[in-house]
Amino acid sequence: MPIAVLVSGGGSNLQSIIDRIEAGMLDAEIKVVVSNRGDSFGLTRARNHNIPTRVLLHTDFDSRETFDEEMVRAIRQSGVNETGAVVMAGFMRIVTPVFLEPFRGRVVNIHPALLPSFPGVRGQGDAADYGVKISGCTVHFVDEQMDHGAVIMQAAVPCQPGEGGDALAARILKLEHRILPQALQWLAEGRLELRGRFVHLKPASR
Ligand code: GRF
Repeated sequence: MPIAVLVSGGGSNLQSIIDRIEAGMLDAEIKVVVSNRGDSFGLTRARNHNIPTRVLLHTDFDSRETFDEEMVRAIRQSGVNETGAVVMAGFMRIVTPVFLEPFRGRVVNIHPALLPSFPGVRGQGDAADYGVKISGCTVHFVDEQMDHGAVIMQAAVPCQPGEGGDALAARILKLEHRILPQALQWLAEGRLELRGRFVHLKPASR
């Protein structure tokens, strides 16, 4: 399955995808890594593995839509077609219908909380501050609303009282690195069936 991976920061989720592909456990090929920040370490990780990169600075565009148009162009040019997928792996931008329409049902995001609790950029800190006993991470299809689309997979971690957002974030991140490649493998196998808000996992073919 041809995929494009979108990053904004450290790219450890990108690394987990690369590692799983190289281990022969994820049937995907990363055609391009796109970042909206030139200093994203995710770009270095991609270059270390000879994966093509593109930097598209959102500040160079006068609207979300024109930025999204350029992302669509870059992703298509890389060879990601309707059999492929787009993975938001720590990509800190809201996308518009201009972006979603060409890839509808094939855009996946990882969020570091158990949605619908704690959407937004401070998912781990908000969960820690709230004092919840369990948090975790969510892989979901992307729709027009932030951190909202149909849930593919979740994993949970117990929270320690007063441990703070950073410690919780580190433990959640380890789980992100497990469930994102797993969800992508299901997508590659054609096992994910989206019916409204519900994602059904079809049995593996033998
Ligand atoms: C992850 O926790 C991701 O869920 C969140 O930002 C963090 C990015 O991590 N949106 P990385 O860039 O993949 O290391």
